[in-house]
Amino acid sequence: MNTEQIVRTFIEYYEERGHRRITGSTLLPPPGDPVLFTTSGMHPLTPYLEGRPHPLGKRLVNVQRCLRTTDLEEVGDATHLTVFEMLGTWSLGDYEGPLSLDWGYGLLTDGFGIDPRMLHVTVFGGDDRTGPDTASQELWQDRGIPVELTVEDNWWSNGPTGPCGPDSEIFLWTGDTPPESTPTRDDRWVEVWNHVMMRHRRLIDGSLVPLPQRNIDTGLGLERLASLLQGRTSVFECDVFGPWRHRVPLLWPLDESSLRLVCDHLRSAMVVIGDGARPGSTGRGYVLRRLVRRVLTVLWRDDPSRGLGDLPNELIQHSLDRFRQEVDRDDVRRVLLDEERRFSRLLERGRQVLARPRFRGPLDDEDFHYLHDTHGLPRDIVMSLRPE
Ligand code: SER
Repeated sequence: MNTEQIVRTFIEYYEERGHRRITGSTLLPPPGDPVLFTTSGMHPLTPYLEGRPHPLGKRLVNVQRCLRTTDLEEVGDATHLTVFEMLGTWSLGDYEGPLSLDWGYGLLTDGFGIDPRMLHVTVFGGDDRTGPDTASQELWQDRGIPVELTVEDNWWSNGPTGPCGPDSEIFLWTGDTPPESTPTRDDRWVEVWNHVMMRHRRLIDGSLVPLPQRNIDTGLGLERLASLLQGRTSVFECDVFGPWRHRVPLLWPLDESSLRLVCDHLRSAMVVIGDGARPGSTGRGYVLRRLVRRVLTVLWRDDPSRGLGDLPNELIQHSLDRFRQEVDRDDVRRVLLDEERRFSRLLERGRQVLARPRFRGPLDDEDFHYLHDTHGLPRDIVMSLRPE
């Protein structure tokens, strides 16, 4: 099944069960939202989870692009991407957790053909404020799926305050031996789908109050599911990365982990640019800048003559099409090249400054402050220019 078929199967399955499809939002939350990027499908729906009636009703389904910087250091492993698409479903004060889990189970096994013996789930085991999620536990036991109880790992929130609740996560076995152990003890269990019983709101003082309605919020990472259904060992080998894996190594020979980083960060940068962000020194712009500069650092490490000007149009267009962004690909290229020029000038200046006798020996905090404040050289760049 390619990703398009997975999306269609998912949406139709939920439409048959009374859900209406909503359009995904961009990665940039509206002004006034404290979050830099949309990090999950539920994020744009927060007001509706808090009780405002949604114009399309109480059962919703969508595909939402998300960006997670919390996973940035994990990018390059088999399962994490910076920008990814999340398939999501919501019950806004309508049906409850067990039905959501049962439908999820039905879709994974009948719809996507996953062998139930390859599944394991985790369920909230309870803490001093909230009791264990026995309804989810019973549903899974009825279906014969092994359950592991956890506390922190099965509590979902989108930030320190706001809607939150216990969740049940569904894992798929990826080992080449028969399944063994449990999701928290063996990372060959890969999480594919999270069902959150979103019925609390955490206040600024940390206390929990009930939301006006009991919601369900589920999210399933599309590229991750695609790679597993396609029998691939990493998200970078699923069909959406096909053109990337083909074109990038022809352009720049890279080891596997560098190739993954370059593909992930470049694609993510293109999507962020396509949604209207521009590189800068704070907030979203800074995240975008870091993505582009990390790519350049990897590329230039082996060969300083490499440049983003060589990027084939096909890759930019592929990303714009994938994320349904109606932006001129030349504009995306221009933003990338401007940032490349800026970074290159900064490095050049950095090399000249660091060649001064004052900076020959070990650097102290005062040196780092001076380099930053007077020459615009952040600590990580200084370090990269003087490998010690
Ligand atoms: N909000 C949950 C998550 O992001 C489920 O959609 O995992």
